Amino acid sequence: MIPPEALESATQRWGRELFHLAKAEHDQLSQLNPWVRRVLRWSLSDIEAPEVRLPPALRLGIALTHPQALTARAVTHVTHWMVTQIAHQFICGTSLDEAFASIQRLETQGMGFTLDLVGETTISEREADRYREAYLTVLEGLIRLCQSHPTLLPWYGTSPRVNLSIKLSSLTSRFDAIQWDATCEAVLARLLPIVELAKTHEAFINIDMEQYQTRALTIEVLQRLLHHPSVAGYPHVGIAIQAYLRDSEAELRDLLTWLATHDQPLTVRLVKGAYWDAEVVQARQRHWPVPVFLQKAETDSNFERLTELLLTNHHLVRTAIASHNIRSLAHALAVVEVLQVPPSRLEFQLLYGMADAIKQALSKLHQPVRVYAPYGELIPGMAYLIRRLLENTSNDSFLKHDFLHEASEEELLRVPK
Ligand code: 2OP
Repeated sequence: MIPPEALESATQRWGRELFHLAKAEHDQLSQLNPWVRRVLRWSLSDIEAPEVRLPPALRLGIALTHPQALTARAVTHVTHWMVTQIAHQFICGTSLDEAFASIQRLETQGMGFTLDLVGETTISEREADRYREAYLTVLEGLIRLCQSHPTLLPWYGTSPRVNLSIKLSSLTSRFDAIQWDATCEAVLARLLPIVELAKTHEAFINIDMEQYQTRALTIEVLQRLLHHPSVAGYPHVGIAIQAYLRDSEAELRDLLTWLATHDQPLTVRLVKGAYWDAEVVQARQRHWPVPVFLQKAETDSNFERLTELLLTNHHLVRTAIASHNIRSLAHALAVVEVLQVPPSRLEFQLLYGMADAIKQALSKLHQPVRVYAPYGELIPGMAYLIRRLLENTSNDSFLKHDFLHEASEEELLRVPK
């Protein structure tokens, strides 16, 4: 049990420190071009307007589940130039060389990376094969580039430099629980060579979490992967847990029990979750219980509970705290302090192109920061971009408010309720 008062006062102290460091950085960093920002607000504003015929979240749901419609919609809403500007903000390169140049820039600032290959909704098995090949090519390329451009961040010893994030839905055309065994086997067959290559070179593979309906499958594939004789015991594998899910605590507890009984190391990337709008729409359409918390404060509060659960079990899991929220970050730093968690058991992960001031602040505090850096073509990256835009235009975003200057410190550091 963590003493609540000591924890809260440490959270406030870390929060104030982060806040001041971030504020000092804020003005120097290039944020999204102000024109792009203005047009963006305008182009997304009708999503919020009451006179729109379809409910906003429904339109979004359609857009996310039908990428063709999304593309058409995006192109009518935002000109090609705009889209390109926005893509450059959130995507670190369209080729591996370009991406690696971005990675090297991050490393000179003391930050690591995890590379993500943009694109989702695989529609044929041939396409799934192409994704497997693409992941293998990227991984080989990254390993080669890293070998010829050595850099040693102080914490690369505890967490490998080469780190790839994978979405399992790209590795089969039907990532669907209806065909449970067949789906798991199809995904595992394509995932295994990627993880084996990673293992040969001590690279890290993280499995991203996507929509709720695929979560059980994702965990099952992870467990089958870790059971496989060529992977069992390998420490550099990770999975994401989404704090916006009401049952995420139960899920995490099950996973911890499984790790303990199998004596299997794992990294858990704790996120809030990027599919909120789509989850709400889908559940409402089908008259299912909504799997996500409806109030942001509930998610924030759950994020803190899960942070405590993870860091209390630091002997079982390594934790990656993935958030842009100062309160959530400060709370994690406070838990580490109060529980005296060894520094090697934690890192922070933030998204490329977002909250750069906070990344710098964490680095100044000598915390390991890894940047989730998507790379690839614009059109396959649209679903990813739309998720970032929604985050940035939501009420507590960087774009909508100049949060570091407008919001008070007390407000930002308040206990989520
Ligand atoms: C996403 O794809 C970052 O995995 C997260 O939106």
